[in-house]
Amino acid sequence: MGKLIDGKAISGEIYEEIRQKVKEYRINYGRVPGLATLLVGDNPASKSYIRSKIKRTEETGFKSFHRDLESGSTFKEIIEQVNLWNHDETIDGILVQLPLPDQLKKYTGTIMDTIDPVKDVDGFHPNNMGLLAKGNPRFIPCTPRGIIEILKHENIEISGKHAVIIGRSQIVGLPLAILLLMKNAAGNATVTICHSRTKDIAAFTRQADIIIAALGKPHFVTADMIKEGSVIIDVGINRIEDPSAKRGYRLVGDVDTEAVKGKAAAVTPVPGGVGPMTIAMLLLNTLNSYEKRQSRNNG
Ligand code: GUN
Repeated sequence: MGKLIDGKAISGEIYEEIRQKVKEYRINYGRVPGLATLLVGDNPASKSYIRSKIKRTEETGFKSFHRDLESGSTFKEIIEQVNLWNHDETIDGILVQLPLPDQLKKYTGTIMDTIDPVKDVDGFHPNNMGLLAKGNPRFIPCTPRGIIEILKHENIEISGKHAVIIGRSQIVGLPLAILLLMKNAAGNATVTICHSRTKDIAAFTRQADIIIAALGKPHFVTADMIKEGSVIIDVGINRIEDPSAKRGYRLVGDVDTEAVKGKAAAVTPVPGGVGPMTIAMLLLNTLNSYEKRQSRNNG
């Protein structure tokens, strides 16, 4: 029986370390890290992520700045808000929650490019994507960083292993592929990226030592698609209708966890696997940004 990896517990250890540092910094520098979040519109999943982000930010001792904008807001209003935060010395990290409402989607790239790269704790700015691709990252995108931290925490060997990523998004699949390829202890994997145009995805996943499912399709990865003893990382967070659930839906991943856990060596569950790590990494990136700013100001 494969191990269910407890991402919530791992993230709890990380929060505790961050909390201790923030306590120390508050005393030594008289300032705590500041994280600003912007939510445009009322996408229910985005609202729920943002609520968790704000809760964790405050619990960890950071200062949280948040703005809600209506879905009918203009590109100009968003840019103005981002620019205010860019120039605010008490803010170390800025996050614009994606996806933006439909009529603003075409501006996503421009909005992300407006965030000061030294405050881009998502790591989505082209400067930061470039630094990552060159092997010298400033900020590692949160979900990929969380996945690497899970693998490290569980002592799962990456070097020389075949990692198959399903999904080529700029938020998860692409940056994760770069990380797994890096010439360091958390890299040196052989990496395959599968996507919606890949023919016979199962032919690839059956050869994988590590599978990372990040395509957004409920229960896509089934037991017949995996190799005995492989490690399965499930990034999917899909809402499926469930009249018996209090909210009328439940969350399931991209992996049929129940089916694969008899065959895999380890699996991350949904919820409680990668999700909690993503928010912990957001706070870690913000803390790292704060530390750099403090050392610039004190040096
Ligand atoms: N939407 C889903 N995941 C993310 C993320 O990591 N960052 C932002 N900004 N939006 C998201």
